Amino acid sequence: MSVCKGFCNQTAPRTLNGIRVYYYILIFLRYTHGNTHIMLRRRGKQGYDKYMCGIFGYVGKKEEEVAARAYHGLRELEYRGYDSWGIVAQKAKEFHLVRAVGKISDKSAADFKDIRGTMALGHSRWATHGGVSEKNAHPQLSYDDSVAVIHNGIIENHRELKHFLVEKLGQSETSLFRSETDTEVIPHLIAYFVGEGKSFEMAFIEACRMLEGRYAIVAMKKGESYLMAMRRGSPLVLGKGVECYFVASDVPAFLDHTRTVAYPEDKVAVKLKADELLLRDITNAKKVDCVWKTITWDKVSATKEGYPHYMLKEIMEQGNSLDQAIRQDDAKLAEIAKMIKSAEHLFFVGCGTAAKMAKLGELYLAKLGGKLSGTFVGSEFSIYEQFLDKRGLLFAVSQSGETADVLEALAKAEEEGAKIVALLNVVDSSIDRMSDTSLYIHAGPEIAVASTKAATAQIAVLLLLAHAYAGKIGEGKHLMRGVVKDIRAWLNSDLFQETKKIAEKVFEKSKKHNDLYVIGRGLSAPIAHEAAIKIQEVSYIHAEGFSGGELKHGPIALVGVGTPVIAIVPNDETKRDMESNTTELRARGAYVIGIAPENSMLYDEWIKVPNLGLASPIASLIPIQLLAYHLALLRGNDPDKPRNLAKSVTVK
Ligand code: M6R
Repeated sequence: MSVCKGFCNQTAPRTLNGIRVYYYILIFLRYTHGNTHIMLRRRGKQGYDKYMCGIFGYVGKKEEEVAARAYHGLRELEYRGYDSWGIVAQKAKEFHLVRAVGKISDKSAADFKDIRGTMALGHSRWATHGGVSEKNAHPQLSYDDSVAVIHNGIIENHRELKHFLVEKLGQSETSLFRSETDTEVIPHLIAYFVGEGKSFEMAFIEACRMLEGRYAIVAMKKGESYLMAMRRGSPLVLGKGVECYFVASDVPAFLDHTRTVAYPEDKVAVKLKADELLLRDITNAKKVDCVWKTITWDKVSATKEGYPHYMLKEIMEQGNSLDQAIRQDDAKLAEIAKMIKSAEHLFFVGCGTAAKMAKLGELYLAKLGGKLSGTFVGSEFSIYEQFLDKRGLLFAVSQSGETADVLEALAKAEEEGAKIVALLNVVDSSIDRMSDTSLYIHAGPEIAVASTKAATAQIAVLLLLAHAYAGKIGEGKHLMRGVVKDIRAWLNSDLFQETKKIAEKVFEKSKKHNDLYVIGRGLSAPIAHEAAIKIQEVSYIHAEGFSGGELKHGPIALVGVGTPVIAIVPNDETKRDMESNTTELRARGAYVIGIAPENSMLYDEWIKVPNLGLASPIASLIPIQLLAYHLALLRGNDPDKPRNLAKSVTVK
């Protein structure tokens, strides 16, 4: 598409300006012709899984379909992990197995055209046990290559099971186990029980009875025309197609083929044949009914709209996403403001970027409404659980609505009778379903792992909410309409090019100084912390955010000649102190990039941002998102799928 030639061909910076209008029309049409309460990904009502990975199984009758279905299914599950992948199909009692390090999305369906069969398993991995390697990728095979297994979760007693197998099979551990995974015990156990004379179905059940931990698994055996699957604590959903069945970690993996789904209970073994499904409780081997449901929501298929990366597209569309975010219902804001007012204790909870934005919620409420609250990262919340009771309100902030650490805090709040409010992008996500009420940021699908447009949309809604709390919603809406206008006028290819030039200088410096610091005070302090996350996760440069006032209490010792420091200096009460910090940094030879509406002549580089008053954190964050993006490319990284990360952190 021509929409973003200015970015694809970065030597033609003005091209985008010329066609920006067209781009906004496209975005406008997309939103106005769809439901503004966009349904993104949904999970089954199965709580959350502690460990990631995507699993996919298919059994049908048409041999030519199997590879394409596995490939497309795995692509939909890549948000759960993407360090390696594998597919196995069965034809004429033989396995065709492919496994590789890397992302399945780097492949195309054509790469799998030679794979034939009526059954397939697929897996997209986020490593837990054993490094990222082909031998540790799933499917894992049994010692005799007769059973293939894909697995999401952790087999906690895998060591004991290894000893059991070594003893029973009379082989050494090194000859029996070819991978470093905990998974490998599963196919071995199944093969062992088959060797003992059990059917594949009963061998699977017997093996499952021995497994401890939280997991979802699917198994296939050579020469059998069915798959076996079971979950215990990790998600697993069944799909009923035409002469075929699916099993996967999440519905989007097969939503193109069927809307008829079922969520098996824990410890129910599922036998899937092309035209028959059988469920058995593994504790007594008795048959269990399958309860089918119809999915009524749609997948939103996001495209890059001509941009080279989702991250860039999502950064550049923030004028639009902010416009959507501020379309909040006044009555809803007032209702939540009332809940906040009557809460004795108010806890903001989030993780990563969402936690930084949650902190802004705390600051806005204090500043505008004089309300005291606290912000906690989900993983550190447990110590505060003792303060949860009926008088408390837990305010969860999450883009995906699936973050395990936040869900854990919510579960505790629910148990103690505290109220739960959520600020989310994904409607009907797990957090949404656990909350008393939710606000949606309407940012549209955020695909890049780095959160950009969701973060600024969260700021916008939290600022509106604080205005509602202070009885000034009209003022808040007026402010935010101006913000949208200013962002649209400023966020263009000029800013893209300007930040690119600065990133090139930082890149050169990063060859000597692989450290970068970001400072801000007041409302800009959470932005300094968030800026560091952005730079870390996509550029892999060591970055840290500090409150400007903390510099002299330690971090300034890290600053030497040429150290890059980003100073966030809005036109607010922090300006003077931030300028003093800048002077102190320059005195030590730092290379200071000032992000400010005015040039105080103190900076080595100045990125001019619009003066947005209380919404300045939005303007300060955007150029840093762009710097992070450019640095990722300059350092040869994939900004959409940075190493070791996943979009939804469903792992504790
Ligand atoms: O989906 P959530 O907002 O709950 O995700 C929380 C964090 O994992 C997330 O914000 C993460 O820090 C970002 N991907 C960083 O850009």
